[in-house]
Amino acid sequence: MFRFGVDYYPEHWPEARWETDARLMQEAGFNTVRLAEFAWSRLEPEPGRFDFDWLDRAIEVLHAHGIQVVLGTPTASPPPWVMAMFPDAYRVPESGLPATYGNRREYCPTHTGYRERSRLITQAMADHYADHPAVIGWQTDNEFGDRCHCEQCRAAFHTWLQRKYGSLDALNTAWGTIFWSHVYTDWAQIPAPLATAAPFGNGSHNPGLALDYYRFMSDTYVAFQHEQVDILRSTCPTHFITHNLMGAGYDRLDYFDLAADLDFVSWDNYRRMQWTFRPEVPPSEAALSHAVMRGLKQRNFWVMEQQAGSGGWQIVSVAPRPGELQLWAYQSIAHGADAIIFFRWRTAHFGTEQYWHGLLEHDGRTGRRYTEVKQMGAELARVGSQIAGSDVRAQTAILLDYDTRFAFQIQANNPAFHYTAHLHDIFQAFHRRNVTVDVVSPESDFAAYKLLIVPAQYVQSEATAAAIERFVKRGGIVLVTPRTGVKDETNTVVNMPLPGHLATVCGIEVEEYDSLPEGVSQPLAFDEGTAMVGRAPQARIWCDVLRVTQARVIARYTSDYYAGTPAVTANQYGAGHAIYAATFGDSELYDTLADWLLDLAGMEGGPETPEGVEWCVRWNGQERIIFVLNHTTEPKQVPLDGGYVDLLTHRVLASATLELRPHQVVMLAAERMPTGATGTSNGGAGRIAQPAQ
Ligand code: GAL
Repeated sequence: MFRFGVDYYPEHWPEARWETDARLMQEAGFNTVRLAEFAWSRLEPEPGRFDFDWLDRAIEVLHAHGIQVVLGTPTASPPPWVMAMFPDAYRVPESGLPATYGNRREYCPTHTGYRERSRLITQAMADHYADHPAVIGWQTDNEFGDRCHCEQCRAAFHTWLQRKYGSLDALNTAWGTIFWSHVYTDWAQIPAPLATAAPFGNGSHNPGLALDYYRFMSDTYVAFQHEQVDILRSTCPTHFITHNLMGAGYDRLDYFDLAADLDFVSWDNYRRMQWTFRPEVPPSEAALSHAVMRGLKQRNFWVMEQQAGSGGWQIVSVAPRPGELQLWAYQSIAHGADAIIFFRWRTAHFGTEQYWHGLLEHDGRTGRRYTEVKQMGAELARVGSQIAGSDVRAQTAILLDYDTRFAFQIQANNPAFHYTAHLHDIFQAFHRRNVTVDVVSPESDFAAYKLLIVPAQYVQSEATAAAIERFVKRGGIVLVTPRTGVKDETNTVVNMPLPGHLATVCGIEVEEYDSLPEGVSQPLAFDEGTAMVGRAPQARIWCDVLRVTQARVIARYTSDYYAGTPAVTANQYGAGHAIYAATFGDSELYDTLADWLLDLAGMEGGPETPEGVEWCVRWNGQERIIFVLNHTTEPKQVPLDGGYVDLLTHRVLASATLELRPHQVVMLAAERMPTGATGTSNGGAGRIAQPAQ
């Protein structure tokens, strides 16, 4: 069943209104509602006194309207009594200044008292709802994250380190603490990496210590979640367990680890949040987030919070234009969402999020946004069963590494370098070509792919390098970008030429490198005889100066003291090729490389669509469900290469051109399948669909 619904806070509204809300939800086609993730003070008004009556009544009203329920464990926002009970449970951010009461996520995830309260409320909820016919699953907490640097965390870090290193000698060697005489002679001397260690902001902690602390913090949240998961699994074995994560950009937790305990991941997909530094999230960034979320467990995911209106805490974002809510939600589905749950039902009158707009207005009116979503509900009633159970398939993968992300937080290398932005720069080139890209962890099996992208894998284990080498040897194509293989797992620089363990596969060695000032770039020149002659991408941010040992030179720098030296190389290795791009380039570089790499890997791009129009494919066995999404405010025309059926109307498209209104989404199926078609592709139309007779 395709899940469609909303996040609802019955505790915010008079009980007399619940029936109207549930009826309107049912009329919108909703079958699922998330409840209770911020309701701790109503569920446990005082220590050990639980009150589920109100929630039972709310669930009953919803269930009577055919709606099932996901319950959130409410631990992201403790009631005042919890924090009064544990004044030392306030989270201490890197600044060293402890949180105080009044927002949310102010708790320290190590605190044993807080952890106990978390287990107690989770167990009480699980006991109460294990056999409830309307309850289908659980969301743990809400958007885990935020490091704590308190004394309890520091003590727990010591235990974590003892388990990892066994002895202080081993730790001192691993971190290189001889530098600045940081040799630890007692575990208790080891600090948490607070900003106060460098009061003038001009320094950072030992990189080995800091990376271990970030890993420890990530492990701590995973352990915090695990306690809830344990309870929920044993008490409610028929329910699923998920968590709402925060997309590709969130980098304080190892999401692969957090996801390992879950049945599937969910995430919160906001496209317009004027109060943050990112007022507008472009479609390709949302697509990357979807790919990351899909990649965490190599399976479909839920969107637990899909934007329902203007965002806003203090400042109100630009309103979603007509069609945008649907467009954004359908994009989620196109990239692998098996559920769309809008955040939130009705706009709150009170609290921090008074201006975070729900589907209904403050006064409970159903306006434009509700009507739009209701229309989508009607559409999903027609096509939802086809979408449910379908999946997204790719032959290209991009490697995402959280150790690397943590290490770049400690040493950015260049102020203009941002790991997620770099991933996105490359991803975007494939996205523009409508090529589906999977996101994989360093531990993944790469064998399923033809093309693997290894963007700046700064901290690289020998095992990962060996897996990449095997992948190439057996015929895979790999693209490696600068700052790969610089560090081993202790976050110390490797004692060999870069890119470290990949130097042989890549057939080059980095002799030296140049970190460029902001705004400085230089054109690259492709060598005669390469398919890319005439294209002129720019090198930016970083230039490795290479010595070729085996590889063929594809492109060269054109200025500075390394003018004429290689900037892009290709090395045949075994049955495959390793491409090394020695600089972080502009979009032209990744566009150029994408065309070439697809060609090398023997893959076609997806079908060509006008700028701003996305073409995505979900597979149902051998059949495709194609989503064509117009992200622009202009009408667009998409040439079709064959006969297609509009899935909503079941009408065969009469013309070879698909006309799209601004923000329109069309779902298509190929009119018929030729014999011998296979289910693996980039999502391209041409290889599988045949022209209509
Ligand atoms: C999410 C969060 C929600 C709500 C929303 C809008 O990050 O999970 O509880 O706060 O943002 O701000």
